[in-house]
Amino acid sequence: HGTSRLNAAGHLEIGGCDVTELKAEYGTPLYIMDEALIRRRCREYMDAFAATGLGFQVAYASKAFSVMAMCRLVDQEGLSLDVVSDGELYTALKAGFPPERIHFHGNNKTPEEIEMALDAEIGCFVVDNFTELALLEAIAAERGANVRILLRVTPGVEAHAHHAYAATGQTDSKFGFDIGNGSALEAVRAAEAAAHLDLLGVHSHIGSQIFETEGFQLAVERVAAFARKAKEELGASFRVVNLGGGFGIRYVEGDTPLEVSEYVAAIAGAVKTHFAGIDAALPEIWVEPGRSIVGDAGTTLYTVGTSKDIPGVRKYIAVDGGMTDNPRPALYESKYEAILANRAAEPAAETVSIAGKCCESGDMLIWDVELPEPKSGDLLAVACTGAYNYSMASNYNRIRRPAVVFVENGRSDLVVRRETRDDIVAGDVIPRRLAAQQP
Ligand code: LLP
Repeated sequence: HGTSRLNAAGHLEIGGCDVTELKAEYGTPLYIMDEALIRRRCREYMDAFAATGLGFQVAYASKAFSVMAMCRLVDQEGLSLDVVSDGELYTALKAGFPPERIHFHGNNKTPEEIEMALDAEIGCFVVDNFTELALLEAIAAERGANVRILLRVTPGVEAHAHHAYAATGQTDSKFGFDIGNGSALEAVRAAEAAAHLDLLGVHSHIGSQIFETEGFQLAVERVAAFARKAKEELGASFRVVNLGGGFGIRYVEGDTPLEVSEYVAAIAGAVKTHFAGIDAALPEIWVEPGRSIVGDAGTTLYTVGTSKDIPGVRKYIAVDGGMTDNPRPALYESKYEAILANRAAEPAAETVSIAGKCCESGDMLIWDVELPEPKSGDLLAVACTGAYNYSMASNYNRIRRPAVVFVENGRSDLVVRRETRDDIVAGDVIPRRLAAQQP
C-alpha cells in the first residue's frame, strides 16, 4: 500500500522510514501512519466531487481515527469533519479545526454536548430522533440561536462486506427517522415548525466496508422519493443530501473495493437522476468517509515474543500487543495480512497464527498466516490498521496504548505518545477508608 516498500536491507520501509529504525526510536507496538497516503485519499474524494459539478462537502468520519494531528491534516486538505461525542469535538477544536466545517452526529447527544457544540458554533447537527429535535430547539431558543440541521433518515437499505446490500423495509434500527413508516415526514414537519432550527436536508448511512455502488444508488433513490414527498406535502426543500460513509478498502486478498472516484460518480449520477425537478437546483452532496481515508494508511508494528508449537495442530506466535490495540478480529472476525518486517525479503516457510498478550483465548490477530519462521525479537507488521484500531483501543489487562507516528518522505513525527504506567493509574483514586486500613 501507498509508500510501503522493501528496502535494500530487506526491511519494510514506510514513508521512507525503515521500520527497524522506527522500533529503535519509538518502541513497539507502534501505529505507523503513511501521511502521503492519507493525503492522497483525501484528494481522491475532493477531486472526484469537484468533477461532478455539484456542490459538496467531504466530512472525514473522525471515529475511524481521531487525534489532533489528523484533524490538522484533514483541515489542510479542505475536508469537513464528522464528530460523534464531546471527546471527538474537543479533539477537533483543540486542533484548531474550523468549527463551521464540523458536523455533530450521534443518537444520544447529551444536553452538555449540545451546549458545547453551540458554544463552538459548529456547522451542523445531524439530528437523530424526536427527543433530540425538541431538546435542540429548546436549547437554541434559550440562546436565541439559529441552528443548521440535517435529519438522519433510514431508507431501508443495508450494506456490509460479504454481501452486496439488502433492501429491507427495516424499521428496527436505533438510528434515525424511518422513511417507511411516516416518522421521517413527521420529523420534517417538526423541524420546519421549530423557529430556531434551519433544516438543510437529510442524511442517510447504509453501512460500512461496502464494495459496490447499488446500495448507495438505491438509498439516493429512496431519499429522493422522500424529498419529493416532503416538497409536495410540506413544501420542504432539501439543500443538502448526506450519504454517510461506508466505502470499502482492501484488507486481504479477495476484498474488492471500488476506486473512490467510482463510488463518487455513482452517487452523483444517482442524485442527478433522482433529484431532477424536485427543486430548482440540485442539492449539495455530503459524504462521511472514515475507513477509506485512513484504513490502508496504517500499519501496526509488533515485536515477536514467545511461541507455542502444537505439533500437527497449530503454531502460535505471540506479539507484544493484541486485542487492546486491534480489537477488530475478536469483535468482527476481521482478517488481516502481515509480514515479518525485518526479514521482508525471505520467503514464507511456515503457517502460524498471531496471538496477542491478553489473558483470553479470543485475543488473536491473525489465524493462519504464511511467514518465514518467526523468531523472538523479529518485527511483525500488520497492514491496514489505520481505521478503528487506535480509536477502538483499550487498556484491557492494563496494557498501555501504543504510540502513533506519522511518516512521510523519510521523516517520522510522533502524533500520540505511548501511554506510561502512570497514565494507567492516573484516574485511580483510593478512598480514604481503604487507604487508612493497614494490611
Ligand atoms: N457516518 C456514519 C453516520 C457512520 O455511522 C459511520 C460509521 C461513518 C460515517 C463512517 O463509515 P466508514 O466510512 O468508516 O465505513 N467499528 C467498525 C466500523 C463501525 C462504523 C460505524 N459507523 C469497524 O471496525 O469495522
